[in-house]
Amino acid sequence: MIDPKQLARRFPDDFIFGVATASYQIEGAAREDGRKPSIWDAFSHMPGRVHNRDTGDVACDHYHRLEADLDMMKDLGVETYRFSIAWPRIIPDGRGPVNEAGLDFYDRLIDGCKARGLKTNATLYHWDLPLTLSGEGGWTARSTAYAYQRYVQTVMKRFGDRLDLVSTFNEPWCVVWLSHLYGIHAPGETSMDAALAALHTVNLAHGLGLEAIRQEAPEVKAGIVLNLQAIYPVNDTDADRDAAERSFQFNNGVFLDPLFKGAYPDGFMAALGARMPAIEDGDLDLISGKLDWWGLNYYKPERVADDSASGAEFPAISVGAPVHNVITDIGWETHAPAMKMLTEQVYQRYDLPDMYITENGACYNMAPVNGIVDDAPRTEYLSDHIAIAADLVEAGIPLKGYYAWSLMDNFEWAEGYEMRFGLIHVDYETQERTLKNSGKWYKALAEEFLERG
Ligand code: NOJ
Repeated sequence: MIDPKQLARRFPDDFIFGVATASYQIEGAAREDGRKPSIWDAFSHMPGRVHNRDTGDVACDHYHRLEADLDMMKDLGVETYRFSIAWPRIIPDGRGPVNEAGLDFYDRLIDGCKARGLKTNATLYHWDLPLTLSGEGGWTARSTAYAYQRYVQTVMKRFGDRLDLVSTFNEPWCVVWLSHLYGIHAPGETSMDAALAALHTVNLAHGLGLEAIRQEAPEVKAGIVLNLQAIYPVNDTDADRDAAERSFQFNNGVFLDPLFKGAYPDGFMAALGARMPAIEDGDLDLISGKLDWWGLNYYKPERVADDSASGAEFPAISVGAPVHNVITDIGWETHAPAMKMLTEQVYQRYDLPDMYITENGACYNMAPVNGIVDDAPRTEYLSDHIAIAADLVEAGIPLKGYYAWSLMDNFEWAEGYEMRFGLIHVDYETQERTLKNSGKWYKALAEEFLERG
C-alpha cells in the first residue's frame, strides 16, 4: 500500500477527491413522502431476481439519516459528493405531477453539502425508472426519452443554481445490455431487439436531457458517466484481436461514437443496424451535443477471445479467465493498469473533454471485529488505482477528480446486501456505521491532499 502523503503530492491543486452513492442503493423510505415504485422496487420484490430476496425498502435508511451521513462524509476529508436523484421521488408516475416533498429532500441534501463545503455532482438517472413508465415500454419506448427530458427540466430548474457537476446517466451499458439483453438488472429482459431499442432511447434521452440542462442551468458542468470496458484479447492472435475490437464497439463504441462522433459504429451497424429502432433526423445531433466532462466507472479488466464459432450475435462479454489472480469477493479480477490502458485508448480514439473517475472501488465483505474492519485488500486496491490516476494526470490526460465507490456499504443490485463496497461498514440490523481501515486510509489521503504545501 502506498503512503498517502506521497500519493497526495502527485495530484495538482485543482484535483478533487470524493465519494459516490446512488439513490436506490442507500435511501430506503421507498414508500414515503409521495415516492412511488421504480422498476427496481418491482424487480427486487420478485422472487429469484435479487440474492437473498433483498430489496431497497430500507437500505441504509439514508433518507432519515441524511444529516448524520453528511457529517460522516465531511469527516472523511473529501471535497465532493456524487449522489443520484430519484426520478420516482420527483415525478412519481414518470410524467405528470411534480412531488414537492421529493424536491425538498434533495434541497436538504444539496444545501447540506454546501453548508459543509462539499461540491455536488448529481447523477440524474441511476437506474430507478418510475414503474408507470415501464408499463409503456420503459427504455424500449422512445416516449420515455421525452418523459426523462421533462424530469431533467424540473430538476435543473430547482437545483441548477446549486449543483457543480451533473450527469445525465450512470452507466448506460447497464441500462441497455445488463437490463435488456442479459436480464440481470431491472426490468430483466433478455431480448436483443429490446436492448437495441433501449440503446437508442437511452442515447436520445441523454441528448434531450443535455438540452434541458443547457436551457435551465447553463452554468452547471454537464457530463455522462460510462462504465467503459477495458478489453484485452486473450491471445495475441488476429482472431482474438478482432474479437476484442468487435467487443469494443458493442460495449463502448455504441455509447462513445454517438456521443463524440455523432454516429453508431460501422461494424456494429453492419451486424445489427437492421434491427435498430428508427433513428430520426436530428437524434444524433442532440446525442453528440458538446459535454463539459465525462466520467469513467472502472472496476476490472475484460478478457475477450474469438467466439465466432459460438453463433453469438456479437462478442459481448468477457470470456477469458482472469490473468491476475487477485479476485475480489464479488469475483472480479483486479488489475489497475487496465484503467490506464483504457483511458489512453479512448483519448486516442475520441476527442474527449475533461474526465473524472466517477467510481472505483472493490468488494470485500469483512465485518467489524471489536469495532475494527480490517479490509487491507480494499486499501491495496484503492492505493493501486489512485496511483494509476496520478500516472494519467502526469501523462497529460485531463483527469480532474476521483470518487471512491462507495461512501458506505449499500444495496448492490442483484447481489443484494451481501456484497460490500463501502469505505464505511453498515450493520443493516442496527444501521450502525463503522469506518473501515480503508476509509481511514482514504481519509488520510484526502487530508494530506488538502494540507500538502
Ligand atoms: C457501478 C454502479 O454504478 C453502482 O451502482 C454499483 O454499486 C457499483 N458499480 C459496484 O458494482
